[in-house]
Amino acid sequence: MTHSSMQGFVMNSLLVIALLPLALLGPGMAFVSIGGGGSTHVSITGMALLQKVQETCRAVAEKNGYEFNPTGSSPEELVQACLGPTAKGEVSGAKFHSALQEIYTQNGLVDRDFVNSAPHHFNSEAFLEGRSLITQGMVTIKINIHNENFQAARTTLGRVLHTLQDFYSHSNWVELGYTKPYSNLINPGLPLDNLADVNTHTCSDCASGTCPNQLLPNILKDKKLTSGYMGVFSSVKPKGKCSHGGATDLTSKINPRGGISKDERRQDNLAFYNAAVKAATDASLELLQDLRLAVGDEDFLRMMGIARSSVLCFVIDTTGSMSDDIEEARSVVYQIIDQYKGTQDEPSEYILVPFNDPEFGPMIRTTHADKMKEEISKLKASGGGDDPEMCLSGLQLALTGAPSSSDIYVFTDALAKDIELKDTIEALISSTKSKVSFFITAPFGRRRRSLRAASFDDYKDIALLSGGQAIQVSKSELSQATDIILDTSTSALVTVLQRARNPGTQETFPVTLDETLKNITIYITGTSITFTLTNPAGVTQSQSEASGKLGTIQTVGNLHRIRLNSDKQAGTWQININSNQPYTLKITGQSTITFIYDFVESFAGPHPGYAVLSGRPQAGQSATLMLTVMGRRGPSSMTAEQVGLAKVSGPESVSNGVLTQMDNGEILVTVDAVPEGEFVVIVKGTDKVSNSQFQRQSNTQMSLSKVKIQAVVDSSVEPGQAFKLPFSVMTQSSDGKYSISARNDRNFPMSFPNELTLVTGQYANATLTITPPASTESGTDVTLTIDAKSSNGVDSNYAVLRLSVVTKITDFIQPLCKVVSVQANKCPHDLSQCGPFRWELSANITDGNGTGIESISLHQGNGTLTYTSLSAPIIVANYNASCCSQIVEIIAVDKVGNVGKCYQSIAQSGVPPALTLSLPLWICLLISAFLVRP
Ligand SMILES: *[C@@H]1O[C@H](CO)[C@@H](O)[C@H](O)[C@H]1NC(C)=O
Ligand SMILES: *[C@@H]1O[C@H](CO)[C@@H](O)[C@H](O)[C@H]1NC(C)=O
Ligand SMILES: *[C@@H]1O[C@H](CO)[C@@H](O)[C@H](O)[C@H]1NC(C)=O
Ligand SMILES: *[C@@H]1O[C@H](CO)[C@@H](O)[C@H](O)[C@H]1NC(C)=O
Ligand SMILES: *[C@@H]1O[C@H](CO)[C@@H](O)[C@H](O)[C@H]1NC(C)=O
Ligand SMILES: *[C@@H]1O[C@H](CO)[C@@H](O)[C@H](O)[C@H]1NC(C)=O
Repeated sequence: MTHSSMQGFVMNSLLVIALLPLALLGPGMAFVSIGGGGSTHVSITGMALLQKVQETCRAVAEKNGYEFNPTGSSPEELVQACLGPTAKGEVSGAKFHSALQEIYTQNGLVDRDFVNSAPHHFNSEAFLEGRSLITQGMVTIKINIHNENFQAARTTLGRVLHTLQDFYSHSNWVELGYTKPYSNLINPGLPLDNLADVNTHTCSDCASGTCPNQLLPNILKDKKLTSGYMGVFSSVKPKGKCSHGGATDLTSKINPRGGISKDERRQDNLAFYNAAVKAATDASLELLQDLRLAVGDEDFLRMMGIARSSVLCFVIDTTGSMSDDIEEARSVVYQIIDQYKGTQDEPSEYILVPFNDPEFGPMIRTTHADKMKEEISKLKASGGGDDPEMCLSGLQLALTGAPSSSDIYVFTDALAKDIELKDTIEALISSTKSKVSFFITAPFGRRRRSLRAASFDDYKDIALLSGGQAIQVSKSELSQATDIILDTSTSALVTVLQRARNPGTQETFPVTLDETLKNITIYITGTSITFTLTNPAGVTQSQSEASGKLGTIQTVGNLHRIRLNSDKQAGTWQININSNQPYTLKITGQSTITFIYDFVESFAGPHPGYAVLSGRPQAGQSATLMLTVMGRRGPSSMTAEQVGLAKVSGPESVSNGVLTQMDNGEILVTVDAVPEGEFVVIVKGTDKVSNSQFQRQSNTQMSLSKVKIQAVVDSSVEPGQAFKLPFSVMTQSSDGKYSISARNDRNFPMSFPNELTLVTGQYANATLTITPPASTESGTDVTLTIDAKSSNGVDSNYAVLRLSVVTKITDFIQPLCKVVSVQANKCPHDLSQCGPFRWELSANITDGNGTGIESISLHQGNGTLTYTSLSAPIIVANYNASCCSQIVEIIAVDKVGNVGKCYQSIAQSGVPPALTLSLPLWICLLISAFLVRP
């Protein structure tokens, strides 16, 4: 058995993770394709990602002295095991799931956004251009990971993997007899040799359209690399060239007819198909390994959404009247840092954005608790006075800088001066699904006039839209209200129910609290309010009982916070609220049962699929969303029974969707009658582990729109260069003028038409030009929102796009690591005697004419590595280790992320000890030998 067939076996039997439906493997593969349907791109990508994540987790565990022992193969169990002993509490797999989905989605979108681009699919012999997409993409991924722009990294990773995988399906690599990946595709320092030139005939005619092997004998003999020509709109191809093949390829009807693509598994191409899938999987692993070595294990895992999930993000008004508030924010930060240190709830990232008038920012983003303490201690209240401040500008920075689904807290005592940003803020909230809560310490009822008549209700609107809360308290009471921040700084927070009533009503809200929910907190905001809680057994507690049979109630300002006792009874609770003033109700808890979702639209073409919407879904048609429900033991441990869209603001209204289980484990939900106005996603189902009913709700409110904006960012942006972004706008509402506004969070200069005249049902095309200054640091990411609004303001929609500014890389030279000497003569032949003896190695590391070495590290080996100054032209690395640790792999990474390695083993040749072991153990050893292959 060769290594690569062994690997196929490994993945089919051992590393298949619950995320991937079994139907995609084994015999079920017959109905999917590398390029088609997206399924096999997803399964190849999924296998590679999950295998690489497991390897990385194991290495991190080993380094930190704990064992990586997942209790099962679900992503949530992998995350829990990967985070190690600190992950004692509830750990949510949601971010890992989301990261995987993002990569899969972007992979699939290459078939929509670049359907007719040969390089993106290695069609039509576009080898150099295709390779350039991969290598430039890898540069973008590395610099984005380095700058912690993980979302941008995932977007590019999904696309690059698609192109890389297509090479094996669309070229004749496997027909030439190769079984290993073509490493030169990810290594621009190496040439692409032996490409068939445009005049070389490559295929024989295939009248039936599907033939086992159409490649001409001399192409095979000379090992000439070629790929199939593909014409979606045209049948033209150079003489004698192979086609891609299939119904959508017009060139396949031109002699030589047929096609060489291995997109589909058929009886006549079985061997080549399987070889292509295997090579594509190995190639994906090879690319991921290069990324992992370049960025390091920890950042690789963070890019994959494997990190403690809580992020602490504060946006703080620093004008003169805010000194008490700043002091309180500081004290909360200290408390969270000190209290959660070393636990699962310790934030993995801290973000701080000050704002004043007229300045705001800069955003401070750090993973180091001490740095956050230092920065927040530096904040001083000054200037500004009572006037409105640049609150939304500060919030915009936080929303674009924080990871998606973050909790953001805004401290202010003034209205927003920059209220014109409200639409942008709302677009960013919908696209990031982050929650924004306000602590407003202005005197009640204070109403200030401002440019566009901002009011504190704007903050309440923003909070409600995002699923956050607007708390109004006096400055002296603020410290009692900030417990909310501690409640939400946890790794597995879920929202069970959120409702708002304006005007107030008397209403009873039933809610199912399941067994898994812990630390349940009920928040009621509003004035002149009475409420009563009733548990499933009929026990009640009213707002006047601060400490009752069901929980403890704390009231401060407009906030009532009720902590249910930890022995709460699972089942249906009733919350009766009575007020004639507006109020909100929110119930949260900690649980691993949660869900992620995206509103999507289907797209047609040769390889149809679903694309995530970047704005609001279209009015006048059913809404569709992709949903993944997670449980304690992965998706298989629960069933979703009801998924619907519900109104948060009364009266109560829920539209249930039709659920379709998708191949990749997701659920496609189609809702025909979408509620008017704003809605959230609700999910109800059964947890099979506790056999109890659960309910969950999304935080971010969404609504439909008659306007649609389409835009695709197809590459990174260079500093100092104007970048043109075509976009198109369509309305289903009446003809007329639509105002266009666009903003970016870096204040880079932009030009775009301020107005477009739309004809109902037709796309109008326009171009936005954005020019990052020449001094922009490579790796800067830019969040761009484009907004289109009808002249009467009734119809509007937005698109949120991310751009990466990346300096064009000219250094493709990998660092060179050369082993100069090995001294292992003291090591005994008998391994059991190795204990007291050591061996040594010396290596010279250079970066030739490259950008210079950035880091040197040990990837394998249990010894001591030292090296001379990184700035010298030749770096001398010395390694010594116990004779028991027989392998060393040294990794050198240069300043742009090119990776060089040296590998040395002092294992004595002879009969491998493995042969004397039982077969399963032998297989395991072979597998691990393969996994740690240099
Ligand atoms: C959550 O509940 C657990 C026990 O149920 C308790 O130990 C822990 O302190 C609670 N966490 C918070 C933040 O109150
Ligand atoms: C806008 O561009 C699309 C292709 O991107 C094209 O099909 C359409 O005709 C264009 N519309 C107008 C009004 O030019
Ligand atoms: C390794 O580097 C050292 C120090 O620069 C140099 O003296 C030596 O000749 C180099 N050896 C090789 C084999 O390049
Ligand atoms: C480095 O650059 C110089 C001048 O451009 C060239 O002569 C030399 O061959 C290059 N060396 C390497 C290792 O590429
Ligand atoms: C191993 O390397 C370290 C660091 O250079 C050094 O301090 C130590 O003496 C070496 N050990 C042996 C046995 O050479
Ligand atoms: C690695 O080194 C540590 C301490 O030096 C030792 O406890 C451990 O057993 C070693 N592991 C291997 C695989 O050699």
